[in-house]
Amino acid sequence: MNRTSPQPAIERDDNRAAPPLTVDLRSDTVTKPTAEMRRAMAEAEVGDDVYGEDPTINHLEQRAAEIFGREAAIFVPSGTMGNQIAIKIHTRPGQEIICESRAHIFNYEMAMLAHFSGCMARPIPAEDGVLTWPEIKKQIAPKTYYRAQTGLISLENTHNMAGGTVYPQRVADEICDQAHDAGLPVHLDGARIFNAAAAVKRPVKEITLKFDSVMFCLSKGLGAPVGSLLLGSRSFIDQARVYRKALGGGMRQGGILAAAGLIALEKMPARLRDDHDNARFLADGLAQIAGIRIDPAKVVTNIVVFDISGTGLNSVELSQRMAEEGVLANGISPEAMRLVTHMDVDRAGCARALQAIKRACERHATLRRTAQR
Ligand SMILES: Cc1ncc(COP(=O)(O)O)c(C=O)c1O
Repeated sequence: MNRTSPQPAIERDDNRAAPPLTVDLRSDTVTKPTAEMRRAMAEAEVGDDVYGEDPTINHLEQRAAEIFGREAAIFVPSGTMGNQIAIKIHTRPGQEIICESRAHIFNYEMAMLAHFSGCMARPIPAEDGVLTWPEIKKQIAPKTYYRAQTGLISLENTHNMAGGTVYPQRVADEICDQAHDAGLPVHLDGARIFNAAAAVKRPVKEITLKFDSVMFCLSKGLGAPVGSLLLGSRSFIDQARVYRKALGGGMRQGGILAAAGLIALEKMPARLRDDHDNARFLADGLAQIAGIRIDPAKVVTNIVVFDISGTGLNSVELSQRMAEEGVLANGISPEAMRLVTHMDVDRAGCARALQAIKRACERHATLRRTAQR
């Protein structure tokens, strides 16, 4: 064919049709919007959201509130903003917030607990990132004037750094019930709550209803380019609107983003099982590689965290070797790596990732044996 002749316009179902050159398992935040999302963005009806006049944002907020069985929802630019607005509303300066020690709100939100809300974290290490009421109860400050008071309990489901783990429902329910009896609110960092719901095969509404506020992200496994929602009572969301504006989160004609978010919310939860199956495939393969430690049974959503200390490589070295083969992944400590599956990586990409990891580990083992001779 003449190279200069115009190519027929191919209407791709989505932008995953072209095989990716790299397999990007760094995070589910790297997903690109589908063709349907891009079309919806181009055609979105918009208005000024600071005046409450963006019909697409209003629709997204209404649908999110309906799906989660809440009075109201607010569209925010990021999960971080959603979490930190919730924390600000629930607490007063000088209070403590109980969370798991690897929680995103504590480690990756720029110390905003302190900076924005004037609070301190009371982090508790918990197996698989899943806190229990007896563990929390011990850390609630006694009600005496000379101790900083506990203002909030925040849970993370799924738990990112613990490997996408999911709260057993009775554990989350007990925490909410007991906290409420003790007069404490409970916030849910549900950045990946749809992954949790897919894993336990229950609607998000059922698994989140006891929380006072819920944040979830459209921009992770659900594939939207930008955006998260914060859910709660009408008065809670009215207050959130004030803080969102104060933080510069009034997005004017943000309906362009909400249009993609609506597709993420309505259509994408149904495909998360594929990501979970791919994560399990990775975990099963990793468990076969000498020097890697992982319990595949614990991989129930789209995040795979594994220990590489037995390989002799640290996470920087392993990720460099993987990158040379076109596979991207992040270390979460010198000894631990994280792989995150999502809609832009298929089973063949996961198989390629396993091969790259296996080759890197085997080559390093051979070099070490040769050096020891
Ligand atoms: C558990 C969890 N909460 C909150 C966030 C924050 O989301 P964002 O990156 O949109 O600020 C993330 C992001 O990775 C996350 O993993």
